[in-house]
Amino acid sequence: MSATTEYPNYSPGLEGVIAGITTISEIDSDRSSLTYRGIDVHQLAEFGSYEETTYLLLFGKLPNRAELDAFNATLSAERAVPSEVYTAIAQLPKTTHPMDMLKVGFAALAPFDPDYAANDRDANLRKAVRMVAKAGVLTANGYRILQGKEPVQPKPGLGTAATFLYCLLGEDPDPYTTKVMDASLTLYAEHGFNASTFACRVTVATLSDLYSGIVTGIGTLKGPLHGGANEEAMKMILEIGTADRAEAWIRDALANKKKIMGFGHREYKKQDSRAMYLTKLAKEIGQHMGNTNFGDIAEILENVMVAEKNIHPNVDFPAAYAYYLLGIPIELYTPIFVTARVAGWSAHAIEQLDNNRLIRPKCIYDGPKEVAFTPIENR
Ligand SMILES: CC(C)(COP(=O)(O)OP(=O)(O)OC[C@H]1O[C@@H](n2cnc3c(N)ncnc32)[C@H](O)[C@@H]1OP(=O)(O)O)[C@@H](O)C(=O)NCCC(=O)NCCS
Repeated sequence: MSATTEYPNYSPGLEGVIAGITTISEIDSDRSSLTYRGIDVHQLAEFGSYEETTYLLLFGKLPNRAELDAFNATLSAERAVPSEVYTAIAQLPKTTHPMDMLKVGFAALAPFDPDYAANDRDANLRKAVRMVAKAGVLTANGYRILQGKEPVQPKPGLGTAATFLYCLLGEDPDPYTTKVMDASLTLYAEHGFNASTFACRVTVATLSDLYSGIVTGIGTLKGPLHGGANEEAMKMILEIGTADRAEAWIRDALANKKKIMGFGHREYKKQDSRAMYLTKLAKEIGQHMGNTNFGDIAEILENVMVAEKNIHPNVDFPAAYAYYLLGIPIELYTPIFVTARVAGWSAHAIEQLDNNRLIRPKCIYDGPKEVAFTPIENR
């Protein structure tokens, strides 16, 4: 008898289990749609900005002009990362993955927050805004430090996407790259009770603090079954190299029961709403850059995966080659996801605390019982 038939209330991986109520976002698998507080993410990516999206997630409504201007001014004023945090990152081995660098960075930021000791709603909103403001700067400059380069001070007045690119490149980004980055941040900003968000909620539900929740989220997002998939997907596309090799490669991988990174989703059994938007965008970037090779490879992989397994690409698949075409280093793909998701994690942490209950599920004990203690000399 399997564990699931013996224990009907047990669902491995908590699949199908309802673990909370949220007003932040809704995934509709049947309609392949994702909404943030009721608004379709395609609309936000197309017509809005990451800042409007963040405001929506944190404050529950889209900002009007005056609110957005004030929010942008606050973000601009809060972008600088204390030099002590950069000094801490500089102590890390140069081989440190940027996701591990970000865990250090966010942990080190916490004691510098003016609301460090506070855990009330208003303080947490201020902390969330500060983290949103700093996330892209920390990602780009932490990466620069690991590369042996000096950090670049954020330029006042730039949005989150432009600030990240400005710090990474050390020069003003072009408007096209900025718009694409902004749309991808919007699409990555929030996604229900995914593993990292759930882990973040578990952490803050102990009445720990918001920064600890974010560090938990980063550690959880790192894995290739979650955010780490975008980096692995790009490595796969590069290994395939050219479109004429793609079909044989994917058929061989499937025959060998390989997991194809950037495909499949626990929640979307049809298409991933974000992937639909980003695939269109990634193909456009290819045309814009005069390089359709990755888009061609991607299309073949998608067709075979759907035909053979009925499995669609998730957001990490088009994000991978979109970022590659924009010249972003591969090891920054998951950290960019962090830059965006700090907004969603924070919104969930605050929602959790609004109606908090310690998250503490049960497990089934299936080990030996009534075992006598053996003195060490007799073992
Ligand atoms: C995301 C993911 C973990 C969801 O997994 P899940 O809901 O637990 O589903 P499972 O891993 O149990 O997969 C169900 C079936 O589909 C197959 N499958 C799912 N994703 C697959 C993939 N990317 N490549 C090949 N087969 C896949 C599994 O092998 C399994 O087949 P089986 O029943 O014959 O054993 C899974 O699709 C995956 O590992 N994808 C690759 C990593 C990735 O892109 N993650 C980012 C998610 S946004």
